[in-house]
Amino acid sequence: LSNGLALTPQMGWNSWNFFACQINETIIKETADALISTGLADLGYKYVNIDDCWSSILRNLKGELVPDKKAFPSGIKALADYVHEKGLKLGIYSDAGAFTCQVRPGSLFHEEDDAKIFASWGIDYLKYDNCFNLGIKPEKRYPPMRDALNSTERIIFYSICEWGVDDPALWAGKVGNSWRTTDDITDTWDSMTAIADINDKWASYAGPGGWNDPDMLEVGNDGMNYSEYRSHFSIWALMKAPLLIGCDVRNMSAETLEILSNKEVIAVNQDPLGVQGRKISATGNNNCSQVWAGPLSGERTVVVLWNRCSDAAKITAKWEILGLETSTSFSVRDLWKHETVADNVFGSLAASVEPHDCKMYILSPAVSAVSRSNEHLQFVI
Ligand code: DGJ
Repeated sequence: LSNGLALTPQMGWNSWNFFACQINETIIKETADALISTGLADLGYKYVNIDDCWSSILRNLKGELVPDKKAFPSGIKALADYVHEKGLKLGIYSDAGAFTCQVRPGSLFHEEDDAKIFASWGIDYLKYDNCFNLGIKPEKRYPPMRDALNSTERIIFYSICEWGVDDPALWAGKVGNSWRTTDDITDTWDSMTAIADINDKWASYAGPGGWNDPDMLEVGNDGMNYSEYRSHFSIWALMKAPLLIGCDVRNMSAETLEILSNKEVIAVNQDPLGVQGRKISATGNNNCSQVWAGPLSGERTVVVLWNRCSDAAKITAKWEILGLETSTSFSVRDLWKHETVADNVFGSLAASVEPHDCKMYILSPAVSAVSRSNEHLQFVI
């Protein structure tokens, strides 16, 4: 959607994965505070997004959406002011149907009024869900909210949450700034890997202005181990997925913060070229040894060697499968070690990778690149 937003994937936090319906204004404010105090906001996590359950069960007598009185007694405008004062942005949630998934009022046929009220509160982002959709095609239900948002005085990020039902990648590029390609993520290895594979299929449709959305991060929610969360974060970054934190940032472990704050991995996600990296090869037992890669600005290439099995594996990425000239030499930067591990590598890159873990590298054309076309060195890390 060309509304000037989403030139790179959106970054921030969303309440759903950790809090579900147990949200209130204190949690949202404390989360905004924590994004600042942990340094996450400075790294780009700017959107503070309230998910389902913020609204009252009923509209008021004027037909307007109203926040739940117990959970948000000060109202959403006050919350937006609080968040804006900290240099952050506030997101809210509604549904392209009669009700939200948790049976609060939906915005179908109320698009103009609801967009107006969101704008009057100072909202910067709308996540728009797909429950109770009355069987009407999403291509009919999602554009009216785009038009309603566009006709307000605010520029509002439009996140389409259609769960990949009607192949949104095929039609949502002109409608929203991102579109969910899959059903909800759960905090498990199986869910995360399956979702990565589905999202991969739509890679060619992503780009500045509109991104595939494989759902929010589970990093820090305890269902996966450190290696698995590191893989989750690395692959989401490479796939140019929205980086929306889904844990309780007020109470994060050092490991969680370390993963979410990896500047070099975030820079891959936010690279201005905006090309979604993809699965390039899957070999070995059950196709567990996987190479995911994609182009970055400055003639660079990001490569993730991802071990999807429960035994350690040596994974190799040959220049030819990466689409690189065999004769070109690259310097290799390890984004988790924060080290340039080699200056002049030809032909291929290989590393041994622990179970469910990954290695993530950026290959940059070597400064003193000498063409040695007959040589095929293998560099093992
Ligand atoms: C379904 C969406 O896919 C989730 O991300 C979340 O927004 C829930 N609905 C809320 O009810």
